[in-house]
Amino acid sequence: MNDPKIIIALDYSTAAPALALAERLQPELCRLKVGKELFTAAGPAVLEKLMQRGFEIFLDLKFHDIPNTTAQACKAAAELGVWMVNVHALGGRKMLTAAADAISNTSSKPPKLIAVTMLTSMAQEDLVDIGIRATPAEMVLRLATLTRNCGLSGVVCSAQEAAMLRKNCGAEFILVTPGIRPAQASLDDQSRVMTPQAALLAGSSYLVIGRPITQAADPLQALLNINKEIGVVL
Ligand code: C5P
Repeated sequence: MNDPKIIIALDYSTAAPALALAERLQPELCRLKVGKELFTAAGPAVLEKLMQRGFEIFLDLKFHDIPNTTAQACKAAAELGVWMVNVHALGGRKMLTAAADAISNTSSKPPKLIAVTMLTSMAQEDLVDIGIRATPAEMVLRLATLTRNCGLSGVVCSAQEAAMLRKNCGAEFILVTPGIRPAQASLDDQSRVMTPQAALLAGSSYLVIGRPITQAADPLQALLNINKEIGVVL
């Protein structure tokens, strides 16, 4: 079965440029990520249009609420027919379990449910601010382990954490990694980046890539180039 490794981040404020980009891509070569900005602006209609074009969607809304509300939101996402949806692991065991149960009880093909561990924007001093004494790496491992034990399929993590999580969470656990830059690409506002090939070798399952593809003069060619670059390790 075709399982593209690249998830393209559609970080747009309206549907039109997202749909225009999708027109220039091919669903056999990538999946698409719709996050809070585009979904808040354009709603389920944009998902429907992208899915009509054959694309599988990662709905990146990072739900974090009381267990019942989070579970119902996950159920609603499943009913939209998305391929992947996520929650914050910091919501805790009851919330994670309720979300996993809601997903597995949906009638349609259930999406993959993954969790955000620590936001990579949170440094040590930010953890101290909110009363957490552990290091970011300790928190990531702790939250990834909790996520797995609650029956979710995987986590979003930095590629820098992929090797450690692959070792601790097993071969089947899905690791979705942003912060990916092909060797010659601009860093934009990312600081700790990894190349697509290095991220896969470190244990990433799927690579979230935005601007290196969405801002390219020829997005399809940029995608083909990255797929070629990672072909050797697939
Ligand atoms: O354009 P770029 O490749 O930097 O886009 C990366 C995508 O991954 C964006 O949608 C960004 O919000 C998301 N992301 C990230 N770092 C995280 C979590 C998500 O860059 N730690």
